[in-house]
Amino acid sequence: MRVAMIGTGYVGLVSGACFADFGHTVTCVDKDAGKIAALRAGEVPIYEPGLDRLVETNVREKRLDFTTELAGPVAEADAVFIAVGTPSRRGDGHADLSYVYASAREIAAAVSGFTVVVTKSTVPVGTGDEVERIIRETRLEADVAVVSNPEFLREGAAIRDFKHPDRIVIGTVDERAKQVMTEIYRPLYLNQAPLLFTARGTAELIKYAANAFLATKITFINELADLCEKVGGDVQEVARGIGLDNRIGGKFLHAGPGYGGSCFPKDTLALIKTAQDHEAPLRIVETVVAVNDQRKRAMARKVAGALGGSVRDKTIAVLGLTFKPNTDDMRDAPSIPLITAFDDMGAKVRAYDPAGMEQAKRDLDGLVTFCGNAYECAEGADALVIVTEWEQFRALDLDRLKAAMRQPVVVDLRNVYRPDEMARAGFVYSSIGRAPFRG
Ligand SMILES: NC(=O)c1ccc[n+]([C@@H]2O[C@H](COP(=O)([O-])OP(=O)(O)OC[C@H]3O[C@@H](n4cnc5c(N)ncnc54)[C@H](O)[C@@H]3O)[C@@H](O)[C@H]2O)c1
Repeated sequence: MRVAMIGTGYVGLVSGACFADFGHTVTCVDKDAGKIAALRAGEVPIYEPGLDRLVETNVREKRLDFTTELAGPVAEADAVFIAVGTPSRRGDGHADLSYVYASAREIAAAVSGFTVVVTKSTVPVGTGDEVERIIRETRLEADVAVVSNPEFLREGAAIRDFKHPDRIVIGTVDERAKQVMTEIYRPLYLNQAPLLFTARGTAELIKYAANAFLATKITFINELADLCEKVGGDVQEVARGIGLDNRIGGKFLHAGPGYGGSCFPKDTLALIKTAQDHEAPLRIVETVVAVNDQRKRAMARKVAGALGGSVRDKTIAVLGLTFKPNTDDMRDAPSIPLITAFDDMGAKVRAYDPAGMEQAKRDLDGLVTFCGNAYECAEGADALVIVTEWEQFRALDLDRLKAAMRQPVVVDLRNVYRPDEMARAGFVYSSIGRAPFRG
């Protein structure tokens, strides 16, 4: 199959490279000339484990290439995937669909022969209808089927997720489109990944429902963590105790500083807006969003509490800035409101992240002294806060860390360490939803 991928970001680049790896011929298109120039020069512009090798191999095998010009690859394609961004619209929180609609117009002008236009971007229910309307309005005679195929990959494990998905959701009733989509996903289908065919609007809803449900699970355990702290329970054991129940499942039950990232915040908000527009409000999701928003600043107050109530003129070392490990993505990372709150409270902040500091400079420049490693970050700090659970923060040299700090106070927002080992190492240690160690 010939595939054109419109938008070469986290989703477009991973999907494009994986489709090429399946044996299809893929051209990734992006408006960002810098990104395309980098890719053509053999550089992968994002940090995603394994992606550089996958891209390199498929470029070498001539199954994958990159361009800023949409028309050529679209004209030749059996399927055109739209994988452009759908951020929150400024002002009202609806999904900003301007990039999707702009691509639809350009695609309509360029298609030739029967072409499946597939929305991979996360879009509100009804967007596929609008994409189809735009294409017909632009070129009445265009022979297209518009399909929804939401993406469920996670940054940091994107290639594995793409190649071993729990399911592939395909929203279309068009028989020709079903054939093309089945052919594109054949290698996964042979691997037993369930292909779930459904109506287009239902597929669009499935993606938002999945993200809202996962955000709810995280928020649920976060609130239980707060209760555990008040009553002396251990949230990790509660999570394990409920997670072993197959009806609940153990994933997404890690208490922490509140969810962030490129998807959950914007997708929960967009779903709420869609539901309100249709007079079917989703009260649970509304509450999840409100609880999660408040949590970020509550985490800053927790750190202040660990320092006796105030962080004014104190130095705080922050380990981890990206919204999760194994990515350089800083979109809606919990570290941003946390560090902003520290700044509001009069603290000085030092920070280190293994991959995200370049991106972080855009959001946090002036608020943070960026450091070269965890120990340099800890130097002279009154408190060290673990914000992102990068692997390298799981086995820090505790003596070296303590020697570098002004006060041995650690606030572990990811429960990476055990209270007893930290107490033994001489730290005043607090974490999420677990009582301090009392010897
Ligand atoms: N990042 C994730 O983990 C993830 C997971 C599942 C779904 N999604 C969804 O996938 C979509 C893309 O997300 P992302 O994280 O890859 O975004 P991204 O911002 O990394 O990439 C989007 C790319 O599209 C390009 N673009 C915008 N308009 C264009 C146009 N008209 N023509 C060509 N290129 C254009 C941008 O330059 C950018 O490089 C979003 O809807 C997102 O919600 C993301």
